[in-house]
Amino acid sequence: MDVTRLKDSWKKVAAYGDEVPLFFYSTLFLTHPETRRLFPVSMSAQRDRLVGALGRIVSDVDRVDELAPFLQQLGRDHRKFAVVAEHYPAVGQALLHTLAHFLGPDWKPELAEDWSEAYGLVAKVMTEAADEAAQTTPPWWDARIIKHERRTADVAVLSVQPEYELDFIPGQSVAVESRLRPNVWRYYTPANAPRRNGTLDFHVRLVGGGPLSTALVQGVQPGDVLRLGSPVGDRLTPGRDRDVLMVAGGTGLAPFKAVLERMRTEAAEGGPRRRAHLFVGAPYARDHYDYPALHEMTRECPWLRVVPCVSREAARPGAEAGDAVDVAVRYGPWSAEDVYVCGSPEMVSGSLQRLAEAGVARDRIRYEDFDSTSTSGGNP
Ligand SMILES: Cc1cc2nc3c(=O)[nH]c(=O)nc-3n(C[C@H](O)[C@H](O)[C@H](O)COP(=O)(O)OP(=O)(O)OC[C@H]3O[C@@H](n4cnc5c(N)ncnc54)[C@H](O)[C@@H]3O)c2cc1C
Ligand code: HEM
Repeated sequence: MDVTRLKDSWKKVAAYGDEVPLFFYSTLFLTHPETRRLFPVSMSAQRDRLVGALGRIVSDVDRVDELAPFLQQLGRDHRKFAVVAEHYPAVGQALLHTLAHFLGPDWKPELAEDWSEAYGLVAKVMTEAADEAAQTTPPWWDARIIKHERRTADVAVLSVQPEYELDFIPGQSVAVESRLRPNVWRYYTPANAPRRNGTLDFHVRLVGGGPLSTALVQGVQPGDVLRLGSPVGDRLTPGRDRDVLMVAGGTGLAPFKAVLERMRTEAAEGGPRRRAHLFVGAPYARDHYDYPALHEMTRECPWLRVVPCVSREAARPGAEAGDAVDVAVRYGPWSAEDVYVCGSPEMVSGSLQRLAEAGVARDRIRYEDFDSTSTSGGNP
């Protein structure tokens, strides 16, 4: 198999941009109409999650051993889309047909052979992992909403009770789907450490024009059932030995609250003595939707400092003026701490730049990559 040839050909096809998913899905749905019901009703090319990743991942076949954990997770996770082994050849054919269409005369039999073999290998790792997972875990978890609080105009805190235990590590995220938006799956981060009663809290901020966040903030109510996927991610799950600096924007607070709850339990059980500094940003003081809980936590945990920050008004008692990252930099230097950042994509990229300017070593900064299809991401 000639991997350079694979990668080069994918680059050429990817250059056609949005035309590629359009062609791929038309082919898939025409040749295998039974696959249409697995996808959202509205499939904007801009939001396409499958095709871009598919070409990139398959043409990375020379790293298949290195990528195995990612592919296994992807395969296990595809069960939540109701994907079964029989769907894989359909997607493989549509992929090859798409490549042939865009490569024209460059689509030679040897290249077709390479793609077919590479897809087969990736599909094998994914389907085997899915089969194995089917022995122990459900394809998704049905979870009933037991509380839905509108904390601000655009933020809701939802508590849900999964039907079966959903085991996760604080800092991990789970994909969520609501019957109000069938097949629209988005990631949200539990804002609590695992509890004995198994309930999870989600902090959801409404993103203008976004289908699922709008439904979760404005549409759903107690008693409704959401579907949850298996937990993913390890970038916001600190080890036990170092002091931590956390910089959160808006609902980027969620993973840190979960991590702090775990640190509180560890400290109470005589675990490692670490300090944690949390800087939480919002435009106005009234947007600090979880302030009472954070305040309560600082009273219980002498090793924790929480600094609410406001970017669009002057400092006031209990809130510093400025973006969370700027305030954090003012409180520095952060020469020994591990640094975690979470918020909107813009907030994360701005914070990384600001921390670098302030001399924080890049390899001590961790953040969740908003591209959930990424196999490596921007973390050390
Ligand atoms: C690993 C991970 C964990 C996440 N955890 C949370 C969480 O705990 N709480 C939460 O509210 N959201 C979280 N998100 C974002 C969430 O998955 C959704 O993208 C968001 O709720 C919008 O969903 P939507 O379907 O309404 O709109 P989408 O179709 O997802 O987005 C519409 C548009 O808004 C942009 N966008 C998406 N999210 C944001 C954002 N936060 N700020 C600004 N623009 C954005 C998208 O790029 C897109 O252009 C997380 C995302 C990832 C990848
Ligand atoms: C080698 C095989 C495949 C690879 C590498 C692959 C990769 C991916 C990736 C990376 C995503 C995004 C996941 C996320 O954001 O959580 C995705 C989404 C998806 N995949 Fe696959 N996939 C493969 C096969 C299939 C098959 C066989 C089907 C069945 C038809 C399928 C159906 C879907 C669906 C329905 C989505 C969600 C799409 C959306 O939300 O818009 N995939 N896939």
